[in-house]
Amino acid sequence: MALSVAPTDLKNILPLRKLFLQENNFQIRYDACHTRGWTDSYALMYNEEMVGYGSVKGKENINDRDTVFEFYLIPSFRNQTSLYFEGLLFSSSAAYIECQSNDLLLTHLLYQYGKNIDSDVVLFEEGVTSSLVIDEAVFRRRNEKDIVFEHKAEPVGDYILEFNKEVVATGGFLLHYNMPFADLYMEVREDYRRKGLGSFLIQEIKKQCYLAGRVPAARTSIDNAASRATLTKAGLRIAGFMLVGCVRNSKPPDEFSAQST
Ligand SMILES: CC(C)(COP(=O)(O)OP(=O)(O)OC[C@H]1O[C@@H](n2cnc3c(N)ncnc32)[C@H](O)[C@@H]1OP(=O)(O)O)[C@@H](O)C(=O)NCCC(=O)NCCS
Repeated sequence: MALSVAPTDLKNILPLRKLFLQENNFQIRYDACHTRGWTDSYALMYNEEMVGYGSVKGKENINDRDTVFEFYLIPSFRNQTSLYFEGLLFSSSAAYIECQSNDLLLTHLLYQYGKNIDSDVVLFEEGVTSSLVIDEAVFRRRNEKDIVFEHKAEPVGDYILEFNKEVVATGGFLLHYNMPFADLYMEVREDYRRKGLGSFLIQEIKKQCYLAGRVPAARTSIDNAASRATLTKAGLRIAGFMLVGCVRNSKPPDEFSAQST
């Protein structure tokens, strides 16, 4: 048998990436990195057949390409997972592995080949439908005439909450994720926080997200207790965590032909 790992073009991994996305049916945080040209792609070969792929991006800088963040092997070849992953680490000279804990294959490899594993981001997925009501608040799409308060954390969203005829919260959803997922965000004016507006806004944005043909998802910093509580109150639930670790060592695997870039 001849196992090998070699750099390849993004277009060559796309058929297998469809299988990756089918297996991992949730929001992929770094999905857009591929099409934005921020990744290096590697083919995992068995003789002349591509049986998997690996993707590498920059951890801090898009040009560094030092972090394995996607890895897929068709199930029939997963008895060789360790060998292929060692080949990918060696070929790419990656120093880090970054993955979503809900991506079980790469999480398993992170713990097998990584050290100093840490997390700073929580991932949310749709959970239940909430029925929060705030009679005085008007939810609607933002228009050009709206006077919006200064935002300190998030972009001004396409949707607003009006309270006493003032815009007191905005939010929206970002579409540059794997279909059918979208990423929710929100900001409430400081003097209107902790009155139930943030969670009501997210509940209403979830409806708009579905109407746009997308499934709501969200990400937030582990330190952002307010955001975590707000997303949960609006019916989202924790789907996983972003995990990142350093590669312990990367030596050429036995029985392997690994070409570096
Ligand atoms: C996150 C944010 C939108 C919450 O808005 P809000 O109007 O205060 O939220 P709500 O009043 O609907 O509160 C929802 C839940 O969060 C809890 N919560 C709100 N602020 C909190 C805080 N600072 N610490 C802990 N819990 C908090 C509330 O108690 C409530 O839970 P409960 O009903 O079970 O008690 C607001 O703090 C904000 O704009 N922050 C800056 C922007 C930001 O971080 N956006 C999220 C990025 S993903």
